[in-house]
Amino acid sequence: MIIAIDGSAASGKGTLAKELAQHLGYDYLDTGALYRAVALSLINSGMDENNITENQMVKYASSLNIALTRSAKIRSSAVANLASKIAVMPSVRAKLLIFQRELAEAPPSGQGAVLDGRDIGTVVLPNADLKFFIDADINIRADRRTKELRQAGQSAMFCEVLADLRMRDHRDKSRSVAPLRAADDAITIDTSNLDASAVLQMALAYI
Ligand code: DC
Repeated sequence: MIIAIDGSAASGKGTLAKELAQHLGYDYLDTGALYRAVALSLINSGMDENNITENQMVKYASSLNIALTRSAKIRSSAVANLASKIAVMPSVRAKLLIFQRELAEAPPSGQGAVLDGRDIGTVVLPNADLKFFIDADINIRADRRTKELRQAGQSAMFCEVLADLRMRDHRDKSRSVAPLRAADDAITIDTSNLDASAVLQMALAYI
């Protein structure tokens, strides 16, 4: 079975995807980590991110070192913002799409896969067996993200995190290619007033 989970930043989609995969014995792919890793490789290269062309970016996506997706460095706000900017580039998306589909089509577990992102149910895996769209009030998401960043030892101010999320939501929803939106056949869960275990139980009930 293939499960597609989309949603806004800090909505709880990653936590749900990870926990579902663990519970079901499926493989899990955090597709946002791919975009973040491309952003980090650009930062590591020292090139000016404001003067980078789409063709140059595709090269970073093509030669992506997957180990970077596990680096704690991809979790900073700077990397998240750059990832969202890079994600508007159609040819970068096309490169990363191949990797995402390959994992979903042949998950190493041989059981199934859970992928989370922005366009999994709409573009990457339109035929997924089950689709969830996860969202929450932006103030609650900003509060969660501020706490996460602080727990990871980074300094974070609620108002700055809120402004970052607003900007990222806008960019992710308004881009012309694969914008963030719920697939027509997705089940929407609003996690504003739910903890992670309640969200997991709700998703399991649908499964
Ligand atoms: O889920 P995240 O916050 O780690 O994602 C970082 C950025 O990557 C997000 O702002 C937009 C982009 N992204 C995307 O465009 N498509 C995906 N499937 C996943 C992430």
